[in-house]
Amino acid sequence: MRLKDCHNYHDFRQLAKRRLPGPIFNYIDGGADDEVTQQRNSDAFAACDLVPNVLRGVKDIDLSVTVMGQKLAMPLYCSPTALQRLFHHQGERAVAAAAAKHGTMFGVSSLGTVSLEELRKKHDTPQVYQFYFHKDRGLNSAMMQRAKEAGVEVMMLTVDSITGGNRERDLRTGFSIPFKLTLGGIMQFAIKPMWGINYVTHESFSLPQLDEHIDMDGGAMSIGRYFSEMLDPAMNWDDVAKMVQEWDGQFCLKGIMSVEDAKKAVEIGCTGIILSNHGGRQLDGSRAPFDQLKEIVDAVGDKIDVIMDSGIQRGSHVVKALALGAKAVGGGRCYLYPLAAAGQPGVERALSLMKAEIQRDMMLMGCQSVSDLHEGMLRFR
Ligand code: LAC
Repeated sequence: MRLKDCHNYHDFRQLAKRRLPGPIFNYIDGGADDEVTQQRNSDAFAACDLVPNVLRGVKDIDLSVTVMGQKLAMPLYCSPTALQRLFHHQGERAVAAAAAKHGTMFGVSSLGTVSLEELRKKHDTPQVYQFYFHKDRGLNSAMMQRAKEAGVEVMMLTVDSITGGNRERDLRTGFSIPFKLTLGGIMQFAIKPMWGINYVTHESFSLPQLDEHIDMDGGAMSIGRYFSEMLDPAMNWDDVAKMVQEWDGQFCLKGIMSVEDAKKAVEIGCTGIILSNHGGRQLDGSRAPFDQLKEIVDAVGDKIDVIMDSGIQRGSHVVKALALGAKAVGGGRCYLYPLAAAGQPGVERALSLMKAEIQRDMMLMGCQSVSDLHEGMLRFR
């Protein structure tokens, strides 16, 4: 199987599985507890039917959207995800370059493996900085300051990860940073020597967003320890309201699911909310964002940009979310498998395929631009 044989999410996933050592593949692929929410995220789209209009004279399809003040050439953007250079040595560099090529937004994670400054200098497509709320308030301010100076357009605070989800696949393999593998985990690395050769022959692993601020014990701090020791589970709406004021620009919360919280986000001056359950990696049993989208759009859609992620595998998923009122849609695994499978050409191909699917579906729906999509074109089973 080669990159040219990858035509959809599942093909990229298969190729990534072949290339990656098991513990790393399972870190990307897995979710929390029984992975019920992860599965439901995508299933939710299948419970919604599209009702097309025909003979609408659709020739040139305009896929552009404006979200949180950013003009994107396509409505799907690359959500921030952690540790990308572990998946492919090009890591965030590949994702940012592919996003820039498609004129869409990409995110850099606090747990990213390339610095936000490097990527900001290299590309002029909109960049999101994903960050967590640390116990050390000075650190939060310093991180925002750093992002501001670099010219990052959008701040994205993750609010669904005040503690790590129960990822049992990782417990079994021993996946952590640095590797503290179980014997079975080590065996899985041994059978993927190409990954190992690439890993050791490229720039050594680091977390440039954090290295400067946090003593990672010479790199020995695990993600689990970072979450439990550095992040503040006591963070509340007052804390975030202060951050929003301090940032004084586009600021969104990732991981909002209730109408109550969506209204609070509006009250404290956020410019966006991302309906998300972290790809099913945090609270298993949590509702699928797509199922929750209408409620939220009805409540706050005229006051704040409502965005969603989690479970996006097809162009039609994006089209359905847009029809229900999302301003844009984020993807995680849908570009991570392609990254792991083939680096930058992989991510470029995945985005091209998604773009073609969205474009084709819009044509078949009789819609020339994203604003032509509306709720009346959907029926729920
Ligand atoms: C995860 C965190 C790091 O889902 O965002 O693994």
